[in-house]
Amino acid sequence: MSTVTVMPSGTVIEASEGMSLLDVLRSGNIEIPHKCEGNASCGSCHISLVEGRKGVSKIAREENEKLDTIVGVGSKSRLACQAKVLGTENIKVELLDAGF
Ligand code: FES
Repeated sequence: MSTVTVMPSGTVIEASEGMSLLDVLRSGNIEIPHKCEGNASCGSCHISLVEGRKGVSKIAREENEKLDTIVGVGSKSRLACQAKVLGTENIKVELLDAGF
């Protein structure tokens, strides 16, 4: 078990190993866009992983290819639907879309 802190609100959500960050956010009643329902094909669940890089799964090829197509991607960018909680350390993410 680890925690995910969601910026900018500072909300803290408990996360079990194996959950995607999208699952974690939804379990905390934080809705972000997820048009393809977690298939790494829409890019709408793009978030910034601020802390805890080692606490989530590595970027796989599908995620990397999709990230390459998104404007504004940075070194901390992840697709929330693809990053799985490993339970090894706490995580902090930042929501990127206005309105959250
Ligand atoms: S929900 Fe579509 S890429 Fe994550």
